[in-house]
Amino acid sequence: MASTIAVIGTGYVGLTTGACFAHLGHTVTCADIVEAKVSSLQRGEIPIHEAGLEEIVRTGMDNGKLSFVLGSEQAVGGAEFVYLCVPTPQTADGSADLRALTAAVEEISPHLQPGTVVVNKSTVPVGSTLLVEQALGRADIPVVSNPEFLREGSAVDDFLHPDRVVIGSDDQAAADRVASLYADCGAPIMLTDPASAETCKYAANAFLATKLSFANAIAAVCEAVGADVNDVLLGMGYDHRIGHEFLRPGPGWGGSCLPKDSTAIISIADGAGYDFALMRGVVEANRQQFDRIVRKVESVVPLDDASVGVLGIAFKAGTDDTRESPAIEVMKRLVAKGATVKAYDPAVTSLDLHGVDVVDNAYAACDGVSAIVVATEWDEFTSLDLDRVGDLVAERNLIDARNLLDRVALRQRGFTYQGVGRS
Ligand code: UDX
Repeated sequence: MASTIAVIGTGYVGLTTGACFAHLGHTVTCADIVEAKVSSLQRGEIPIHEAGLEEIVRTGMDNGKLSFVLGSEQAVGGAEFVYLCVPTPQTADGSADLRALTAAVEEISPHLQPGTVVVNKSTVPVGSTLLVEQALGRADIPVVSNPEFLREGSAVDDFLHPDRVVIGSDDQAAADRVASLYADCGAPIMLTDPASAETCKYAANAFLATKLSFANAIAAVCEAVGADVNDVLLGMGYDHRIGHEFLRPGPGWGGSCLPKDSTAIISIADGAGYDFALMRGVVEANRQQFDRIVRKVESVVPLDDASVGVLGIAFKAGTDDTRESPAIEVMKRLVAKGATVKAYDPAVTSLDLHGVDVVDNAYAACDGVSAIVVATEWDEFTSLDLDRVGDLVAERNLIDARNLLDRVALRQRGFTYQGVGRS
């Protein structure tokens, strides 16, 4: 059954949520407080690089299911559901800044019709459902937690075909109503209490981060003992209790969620009297991974005064997002040690980082450099003309932090090649 939904906040989560609900047949109004953003969305212009999003936004607007308004007041009046998708950035002590969330809730409260369900999709500390209830100050409005598990680059697909939908509420009827919105997704829908739903989000991302730090640590072991990490992880992944996904070694993990949520769960646990030492180790291992990539570069070229080409700036392929990008962590360390960097990314055209010059193609990033670092796993790097690259560089050294390129072909052309966890 089609419902009327308001979405507050048109960031990556809000815009994907709104557009996907419209795609599922609901009538959706998305609100934001940034005027320029709303007017460009009203013209059908999408501010983020996200596969399939622009198409469903435009279709939703064309068929009248999706609209954008300035300020939440206009959006929530007739809504049966209000999705809160506002940012909850990390503060200096690792906790989440909830000011945008409480401000949004206080603003919408007087305009909600009785029985509207307020749904929290922002990633928030455990206990925030209660905080939203208090900020609303309305006994006639149930609040439900419904965390998002969307990956950037495949957010639309993840929303429409989720592995699971987690819904947390003390109000069974409200939880059932939220569950009905996902009826066509064919995914398991799990109903639980708010604290469990909120914790589930942090725990899932913290576990993914743990899996990645583990894969990177095994890569280091493989280097030490002369094993090949690809084969080791392949062999591990066939065990269905482990699985193959999220076992690809790399330069470390980044993005807008894993680092934030990993730090947050440590801080949440700490605040509740539990020292999450395991997770502290996971985060520390990630920092060490950035250092390990830099040491690989240093092993072939003294960094003082060196020119290094870095292929990839985004935190992973398929996105233009550079938040907490391992590529940037590596570049910062290279520059701190005296190198200058020429960086290229198919989706990122500028970066304000001292010592880093962003160039507009991969070959320009290789021109005259003493080492090349592959930092993001973009497909286009696999089809580089290696003869041309060899002619352009000053010295033939390549550090492949994503195990992406053909090491045999590179070595045949006189390159030193270092991957992660394999010789
Ligand atoms: C993540 C979660 O996957 C998603 O469920 C959540 O709710 C939001 O955070 P996202 O930030 O889009 O999604 O990135 P993800 O695809 O998880 O990758 C995170 C980082 O891990 C990237 O830096 C990526 O390059 C790295 N990664 C991922 C690896 O190094 N190896 C892998 O096998 C997978």
